[in-house]
Amino acid sequence: MPDVRERVEELRREGEAAIAAASDVAALEELRVGYLGRKAELTAILRGIAELPADQRGPVGSAGNEARRALEQVLEARRVELEAGELERRLRADAVDVTLPGLPPAPVGSRNLLLRTMREVEDVFVGLGYRIMEGPEVELDYYNFTALNHPPGHAARMAQDTFYVDPESLDPELRLEPAPTEPGEGAPGPALPPGPEDVVLRTHTSPMQVRAMEASEPPILIVVPGRCYRSDPFDATHSPIFHQVEGLAVAESITLADLKGTLDEFARAIFGPERKTRFRPGFFPFTEPSVEVDVSCFRCGGSGELPDGSRDPLCKGIGWIEILGSGMVDPNVYGFVSDRGYDPERVQGFAFGMGIERIAMLKHGVPDLRKFYDNDVRVLGQFR
Ligand code: PHE
Repeated sequence: MPDVRERVEELRREGEAAIAAASDVAALEELRVGYLGRKAELTAILRGIAELPADQRGPVGSAGNEARRALEQVLEARRVELEAGELERRLRADAVDVTLPGLPPAPVGSRNLLLRTMREVEDVFVGLGYRIMEGPEVELDYYNFTALNHPPGHAARMAQDTFYVDPESLDPELRLEPAPTEPGEGAPGPALPPGPEDVVLRTHTSPMQVRAMEASEPPILIVVPGRCYRSDPFDATHSPIFHQVEGLAVAESITLADLKGTLDEFARAIFGPERKTRFRPGFFPFTEPSVEVDVSCFRCGGSGELPDGSRDPLCKGIGWIEILGSGMVDPNVYGFVSDRGYDPERVQGFAFGMGIERIAMLKHGVPDLRKFYDNDVRVLGQFR
């Protein structure tokens, strides 16, 4: 009968060597099963001690138990060692360099140049103390025309320019309050719900002049950005949908000089520090006097000539570029809001309105208004 104790020692040495050489945790587990598992030789020996001759039971038993403990210990030690190494390796392999740029670079969206220009214009006026207000795009004829001193039958109401809206077609949520009755009509009767010619897509942002004055007493300083609609063609300089920013300043001592100073400030902020403005007589039913405002050309500096002596095509050699319409608020307009403290004997003020498409085209040299609406990313991406 072979010396069982020898065999135990042999198994222990063999096991210890194999465990020391194990290269990963999986191999280690196989060795554990092989040397200490239920079917392992050492386990069988320990289980069979009772069958050994009496004088061998003690020495084999203690050698076997010792071998078992020794193998368990080296298994555990090696496991700790291997696991630490594996963690280390995984950390190194998974390392992310957070300083590297993303690959591929994520596409970044940007605001449409129109919205950006609108925000820039708003910012200038917010800096001057104006408040921003917005109003409905589906508007009552009353605010769009009547209260802005367009007498009935005025050319600006004509269907060639104006989109009329059937009030019945509106979502009830969008239904507008009936317009106030006009001044001088006698005792105000019950207001009628709007009829088929009473609702329009606003043709300018000016209706907010009246709505804003209805909502708050003087002094008032507001700018109104927003979309407007006219039955125009869609070409290089027209669009049936376009954007305006309106301004209104009314207080006790506002004069035409304030309008000039304000628009000078605006022109410098948007078109460059050297800009000047000039007023030319104009006409709007709701301002008196009315002025067309030009800004000194920011390409030629106002000379009308480019450095090579040729005619500046931007200002067409004039040295000035028309940018907006404005004027002193017509006293007749105050008549529609006199119950809110707008007494033309006491307050006066100015209003102005500019087309954002035009400002953006001039400022950035965009040759065709349709570029703002085409959604061509090659165009949009140039104005981030
Ligand atoms: N609402 C006018 C337009 O659309 C511009 C304007 C605004 C003129 C305010 C005077 C005062 O042409």
